[in-house]
Amino acid sequence: MEGWKRTHHLGALRKSDAGKTVTLMGWVHRRRDHGGLVFLDLRDREGITQVVLYPDLSGESHDLAHQVRSEYVVAIEGVVVERPAETANKDLPTGDIEVRAKRLAILNRAKTPPFQIADEKTDVGEDLRLKYRYLDLRRPELQNNLRMRHKVTSAARRFLEAEGFWDVETPVLTKSTPEGARDFLVPSRLSQTNFYALPQSPQLFKQLLMVAGVDRYYQIVKCFRDEDLRADRQPEFTQIDLEMSFVDQDDVMELMEKMVKVIWKEAVDIAVEGKFPRLGYADALSRYGCDAPDIRFGLELAEITEVVADSDFKVFAQVAASGGAVKGLNAKGAGEALTRKEIDDLAGFVAPFGAKGLAWIRIQPDGQWQSPIAKFLGDKAREGIVKAFSPVPGDIMFFVADKREVANLSLARLRVHLGRRLGLIDDSVLGFCWITDFPLVEWNEEDKRYYALHHPFTSPRLDEAHLMESEPLKVRAKAYDLVLNGTEVGGGSIRIHDRDIQNALFKVLGIGEEEAMEKFGFLLEGLSYGAPPHGGIAFGLDRLCMFLCKADSIRDVIAFPKTQKGTCLMTDAPSAVDDKQLRELGIRLRATAQA
Ligand code: AMO
Ligand code: AMP
Repeated sequence: MEGWKRTHHLGALRKSDAGKTVTLMGWVHRRRDHGGLVFLDLRDREGITQVVLYPDLSGESHDLAHQVRSEYVVAIEGVVVERPAETANKDLPTGDIEVRAKRLAILNRAKTPPFQIADEKTDVGEDLRLKYRYLDLRRPELQNNLRMRHKVTSAARRFLEAEGFWDVETPVLTKSTPEGARDFLVPSRLSQTNFYALPQSPQLFKQLLMVAGVDRYYQIVKCFRDEDLRADRQPEFTQIDLEMSFVDQDDVMELMEKMVKVIWKEAVDIAVEGKFPRLGYADALSRYGCDAPDIRFGLELAEITEVVADSDFKVFAQVAASGGAVKGLNAKGAGEALTRKEIDDLAGFVAPFGAKGLAWIRIQPDGQWQSPIAKFLGDKAREGIVKAFSPVPGDIMFFVADKREVANLSLARLRVHLGRRLGLIDDSVLGFCWITDFPLVEWNEEDKRYYALHHPFTSPRLDEAHLMESEPLKVRAKAYDLVLNGTEVGGGSIRIHDRDIQNALFKVLGIGEEEAMEKFGFLLEGLSYGAPPHGGIAFGLDRLCMFLCKADSIRDVIAFPKTQKGTCLMTDAPSAVDDKQLRELGIRLRATAQA
């Protein structure tokens, strides 16, 4: 590096720079050796610039030019020249110029990489790319994702700081928090037999910061949840987490709508217009079958349980009699698009969601109903179906009869599947919506007890709080989720700041006084020393970035992600530890775990 000083990044030079002497540094993206003439495409995070090395390059530099290989780190000094029009590269912002080298230095050599970084669409397996993540991250696509993520956090920070939020850090070695997933545990050496839990979210700390008078808190914070991983789930992920004092639902939702719009504007220069629609939880389930609906297209569900209750189709009648639901959707125009085989195969599509079958009715051009079940449907059922779905020739209606949850889930999935298949989903549209009015608690048949739908510090609607003891399922929470194109990207609530209401909720949840004190005594204590009314929300930063980067996998927007099995292929974490370390912690592994 001595004697060299970089003057420009590799995306910077334009025609107007012609004639300048510049010093560039970067990685060799591609090298083309035309006998005497050597072309190097140099790459850094800002772009690619073509460098030409002529045979008359001075002594040492000339020899080096032939040694240079892909991914070597080099410095060149040279003069910017405009390329003749026919050799200009329209695909590169720097494509109108090249730099004629006068001097070249190799700053570092590189082994032959395990895969080509210059190949845009690499068909190399993801495992190899994750093992050499630092090389994969050199690819422009992933560099752009990191840049996007930086833009998002930076926009969020600026917005929140302008709105008076303080960035306050909360502990990572802490006690279990009640977000409903399994905890990651860390054994304590100083206090043997005891464990810290990594936070599933800073929920309790941010509430206590409100008790402390911080008024507005935010943090871009790692959260840890030991749950089954999916395309949009990681064991450690990041939240844009915040909490506000003296606010109600609308205050939080309105401010967050503004923040999301600022993020979209600053990160991808898209002006998101209009207020985000709000949809009650019950409405969402009834119309879309789920609480995170993609509202960009129709194919809404409708229920026909009552009109088919006394029909001759036994499955429908039995489900209706046993308290289940018969629901369906009208796939408008699907009659032309779907072959008979495709229609039959859809039963297989819904099966994994628990549906035992998928009944269908196709309206023929002459208005006749073609269907395996039409012969069992009398006038009442037919009229009810027409009223619910307004079918016209060319439509196909699909029905699932089952427990309400199964009918909803399978039709919700079928709806999105058909929406894609029929080309009804416009991916250039952003389908933001708020889901509100969640039930406070839900019944868990397996455990025979109620669980909080959000977390046990979520406030009930005060006008319904009196029903908590008698009819807890009827009480709605002051909770809200932000959904984008069918994915939950954020969720929050107004919290309970009143000890009596908190105790009443614990009672519903079957959490005794002693258990409550042991688990969250510090919070309850805090709430009893003058807690202000408060509420907040947390966004899944990784999920927001997936949308902004148009990434299919959450791993593509995280610098060093974990695999589906929760491992890091680069560092080999998690890994075995020394006996000595275990002894210091007072831990002996069980035989089965060791095997
Ligand atoms: P919640 O549990 O809904 O709320 O989490 C907030 C948001 O975090 C994202 N998210 C995840 N992203 C990636 N991988 C995961 N495993 C994962 N789990 C959740 C989702 C979700 O909407 N303390 C409350 C917030 C509050 O009430 O203020 C909480 O954590 O996008
Ligand atoms: P079956 O009488 O079992 O041959 O079913 C006749 C039609 O009803 C087939 O198209 C099945 O897929 C469908 N079907 C069966 N069970 C259900 C159910 N629980 N919900 C909806 N359709 C069903």
